[in-house]
Amino acid sequence: MNTKEQILELVKQFYKENHLKKPYEKGDRITYAARVFDEEEIVNLVDSSLEFWLTTGRYSDEFEKGMAKYLGIKLPVLLVNSGSSANLLAFMTLTAPELGDRQIKRGDEVITVACGFPTTVTPIINYGAVPVFVDVTIPQYNIDVLELEKALSPKTKAVMLAHTLGNPFDLETVKAFCEKHNLWLIEDNCDALGSTYEINGKKMMTGTIGDIGTSSFYPPHHMTMGEGGAVYTRNPLLYKIAKSFRDWGRDCICPSGVDNFCGHRFDGQYGLLPQGYDHKYTYSHFGYNLKVTDMQAAVGCAQLKKFPIFVEKRKHNWSRLRKNLEVVSDKLILPEPAKNSNPSWFGFLITCKDGVSCYELTKYLESKKIQTRKLFAGNLVKHPCFDQLRNENQGFRIVGDLHTTDYIMNNTFWIGVYPGMTDEMIDEMSNSIIEFLK
Ligand SMILES: Cc1ncc(COP(=O)(O)O)c(C=O)c1O
Repeated sequence: MNTKEQILELVKQFYKENHLKKPYEKGDRITYAARVFDEEEIVNLVDSSLEFWLTTGRYSDEFEKGMAKYLGIKLPVLLVNSGSSANLLAFMTLTAPELGDRQIKRGDEVITVACGFPTTVTPIINYGAVPVFVDVTIPQYNIDVLELEKALSPKTKAVMLAHTLGNPFDLETVKAFCEKHNLWLIEDNCDALGSTYEINGKKMMTGTIGDIGTSSFYPPHHMTMGEGGAVYTRNPLLYKIAKSFRDWGRDCICPSGVDNFCGHRFDGQYGLLPQGYDHKYTYSHFGYNLKVTDMQAAVGCAQLKKFPIFVEKRKHNWSRLRKNLEVVSDKLILPEPAKNSNPSWFGFLITCKDGVSCYELTKYLESKKIQTRKLFAGNLVKHPCFDQLRNENQGFRIVGDLHTTDYIMNNTFWIGVYPGMTDEMIDEMSNSIIEFLK
């Protein structure tokens, strides 16, 4: 065995000695999410660190192609350093001048919801576009499509929405609305990787039905690389623009560590630059550097192999919870999958009906070591980050009164269904809820 082989053998041994999980015992803490991994992830990570390439490299390439294959799209996905970066990149891609009259400009409107994660909305505000908040429905926790036409204005350029906790929004209606009004559709797929949706008689992965989709690989998510995310599209122009925005805004498409990939490094003329100016340092967008390290991608490659099993386990856990809790459906509103969908659930959402205190129920569950979560911001517009815009009454628009969003803020919470959960853990969670409601 050479030195590297010896090190990797030791890593496997280290995994067995330090990371093997003890089987769950009643009374152990039940978290809403956790990483699920084995020796493969750590071996890949150490392998990549020994290579010491550090920046985006062979593991990133493998992941970008592998994930595209999983999603059923031809173009590789673009790896980025978080789901929030993925949303930023997806949104900024649509602000590129080469999109002509479809370019999102400052002051243009983007239809979204306030009931969700903040960084679905942040890029809209930071760029100076205007989020237009529409209410949601229970028990799907997604946009109320009956309000879409009311949200439309001559300034509307896009719809940007997350599939809430894995449950797809009404893609059929939203996509038809976008097509009718020539709007971009950005799917924040950060909580829904693996969900499928049948549209025009074809089953497709969520995130690939709109113009551009995003994922997060933060540890609680469907799969992880510590920090990480991805942007994906079927549109070659959007792909090219997104890649440029991700990689400093440059025009050149050379991979990291490669010079003159296209053979035209010194013979082009761009902007007002002199003929032959080095293409490697020619910038076509005001971009960022949002790339991942190859060590993150190495972990992702091992996760990707396990991913289809993760999805099945999430579905199993959700269904078991759903069945167990049916007996208290007079007291709690239980979640329902969207029509035409097969969700890869991120969590199990519960809304307390009138007479049941969400505050007391979640406090009780936490006291029983069952971790609970709110539906992220609940109503984002009520948060301190909105104080200034709210006080100045500018920078955003609300359609109607968001009363269901507020109801969710006050009465909804969720518990986990992550693939590391056993039936015993699921039963412990549902029994505790039933016990509280007795
Ligand atoms: C719907 C949604 N979008 C975006 C994000 C941001 O992902 P990240 O934490 O990787 O930045 C999250 C995070 O949980 C999320 O739930």
